[in-house]
Amino acid sequence: MASRVPLVAGNWKMNFNHLEATYFVQKLVWLLRDAHFDYRRCEIALMPSFTSIRSVQVLVEADDLKIRYGAQSVSVTTQGAFTGDVSADMLAALGCTYVIVGHSERRKYHPEDDANIVDQVRAVLAAGMRPILCVGESYEERRQGIELDFAVGQVHDVTRDLSRDQAAKLIIAYEPVWAIGTGMVATPDSAQDAARAIREDLATTFDETVADAVRILYGGSVTSKNAVELIGEPDVDGFLIGGAALDADELATIARLT
Ligand code: G3P
Repeated sequence: MASRVPLVAGNWKMNFNHLEATYFVQKLVWLLRDAHFDYRRCEIALMPSFTSIRSVQVLVEADDLKIRYGAQSVSVTTQGAFTGDVSADMLAALGCTYVIVGHSERRKYHPEDDANIVDQVRAVLAAGMRPILCVGESYEERRQGIELDFAVGQVHDVTRDLSRDQAAKLIIAYEPVWAIGTGMVATPDSAQDAARAIREDLATTFDETVADAVRILYGGSVTSKNAVELIGEPDVDGFLIGGAALDADELATIARLT
């Protein structure tokens, strides 16, 4: 049985300026300390907007809760005349551990597809950080009953261009698009089915060691009310959380329950 440390990651999306981020992290740290949170049992990571990364860094690095932080997107370019872009090296210089790659909202609102997503994954790895690769079907794919093939296909479109060592550093977030921000959470069984199918594809593409090493998160309307059932599934290794991660009490509770 693999011993994967669960990860509870908060994707703040376009919320919290640097002042609000400061207040949030101060409250989260207080709540976790008050609960004698053990970071060795569960890892917490915050993915703020670019403008708030520095605020989060200053606060979490002053503490022994080992709260990690990162970014919600990254440019595949390294430096130069790319207005508005942020490179992986810039994020790494800020101490980022994780970068979300291929989130459905990035695929929807930005020209991001599997081709440049694999370049983003490579850029994040080359800068010494860990990509959180987001995959997941829309309601239409689920209605057609092809949700597992769809999610596995998205993973495979990226991993087939990676080395074994690169793949072992991946974190994958299975986020069915119909569950994001809707309150319609996937059942524990369907989250497990997707995670198992993804892990089996990793074993086929690489080997069991890589498949066992990769943490597979669930995302999509996670709250403190459904987290326990979901984390009870053998191939679900944590969560990528949106709305509930904007509430320090909720996030601290989910981390304690995970
Ligand atoms: O990246 C996580 C996010 O897409 C999930 O959002 O609000 O359904 O938890 P939410």
